[in-house]
Amino acid sequence: MGIGSAEFVVIANRLPVDRVVGPGGETLWRTSPGGLVTALEPVMRRKGGAWLGWHGAPDEQMEPFTHAGLDLVPVPLSETEVVEYYEGFSNGTLWPLYHDVIAPPEFHREWWDSYVAVNRRFAERAAQIAAQDAVVWIQDYQLQLVPAMLRELRPDVRIGFFLHIPFPPTELFQQLPWRREILEGLLGADLVGFQLPGAAQNFIRLVRQRVGHKTHRDAVYLPDGRVVHARAYPISIDAKGFEELARTPEVIARAAEIRESLGSPDTIVLGIDRLDYTKGLRQRIRAFGELITDGAVHVDDAVFVQVATPSRERVDQYRLLRDDIDRLVGRINGDVGRIGQQPITYLHASYPREEMAALYRAADVMVVTPLRDGMNLVAKEYIACRWDDRGALVLSEFAGAAGELKQAYLVNPYDINGMKARLLEAMRATRKENSRRMKGLRKQVMENDIDQWANDFLADLRADPETHHKTTRPV
Ligand code: G6P
Repeated sequence: MGIGSAEFVVIANRLPVDRVVGPGGETLWRTSPGGLVTALEPVMRRKGGAWLGWHGAPDEQMEPFTHAGLDLVPVPLSETEVVEYYEGFSNGTLWPLYHDVIAPPEFHREWWDSYVAVNRRFAERAAQIAAQDAVVWIQDYQLQLVPAMLRELRPDVRIGFFLHIPFPPTELFQQLPWRREILEGLLGADLVGFQLPGAAQNFIRLVRQRVGHKTHRDAVYLPDGRVVHARAYPISIDAKGFEELARTPEVIARAAEIRESLGSPDTIVLGIDRLDYTKGLRQRIRAFGELITDGAVHVDDAVFVQVATPSRERVDQYRLLRDDIDRLVGRINGDVGRIGQQPITYLHASYPREEMAALYRAADVMVVTPLRDGMNLVAKEYIACRWDDRGALVLSEFAGAAGELKQAYLVNPYDINGMKARLLEAMRATRKENSRRMKGLRKQVMENDIDQWANDFLADLRADPETHHKTTRPV
């Protein structure tokens, strides 16, 4: 097999660009707003890097291309693979299994076969484009077999893997009929990164129990002498970028306009999530609705804005969720709304970064209440936009972010009464109290941004295996 010229390769299910149609009907690409691409862009430019991923359309072959100085290598998926690998095994099996089985995971052998085939395609393409001794960084649950497949093809490259979602407790992971294959797939990496120390520990424990390798703290010792490390690297956002955006006159003006359109209430409560059953939307909407029916909050005084970004719309559980939320919001607005005054403004849409920043600026209280979440970057984005130290964050204990964002109003989203009480507390707190909390939150987010995260991971990945071993720190 020939060897490529990319010294640094990122592999993710998706390319970091979205296809848009230009004024003349031509295809244009726009860099996706995600933090990962922002963080890796400079490294990729410096290193002659390439990003490998699906370009988003089924049954379409596409040549590598350059966008905004980034070398992008599209990996094709057939319509059947979109159904079986992406919607099926990735989002109908792994996603619910890794998120505490909030929805029942489905196990289908043909989905697994498709997952294996697509992972192999990614590995083979990476093997073609990576330079001798390149660094390859594989992202997320869709591609857990790629590390071992790539190592087989290219033992010279240094391989990192980062899981953006939770890694489940051993009791749940063991339901997976292909548990051993997934563990062995991940063990192809030199460094496996997780959001939280507990996830890294789950992985190490499983490797010991299920695969039988020797482990010590964050290290796995393979029979061939290789050492794999598993550690936590909590991901973050482009905090400065968000703050700068939130300080622009356009965003400030738009925030004022949003407030006015909502009838200038005393309190704007905001939720922004992908429309996903892990996000705790139902519980949050019920809690707010009950505060109004109980009379604790008056419909003239507070408005709840919920933005739900369309996601994985052909997967059954997502379709059911959408109907459920539509019904719930309709019922509450119907029950307690007045002419010109709806307690819940529900938007099923995705917005550009500027509009998100304006919403964050307009919100007095941000509610982020997932039932389980790897990290949750919305919570961090809100904080980055609150440059005046005002506002309050109500945050689920089950979001990875809760490990760092100690000054948030922490809630258990399964406990509706508890959530109502915390929400009221956040709404009624003095400005001084909320500003004390926000200062602490901002210190954490502004000092630990996405660059730091990427640099930490890559420095550990590049570290000489010997020193690596010596500096082993507990997970
Ligand atoms: C989560 C996952 C990502 C995924 C994103 C959007 O954040 O960790 O890997 O890309 O959701 O989901 P989608 O299925 O649209 O790529």
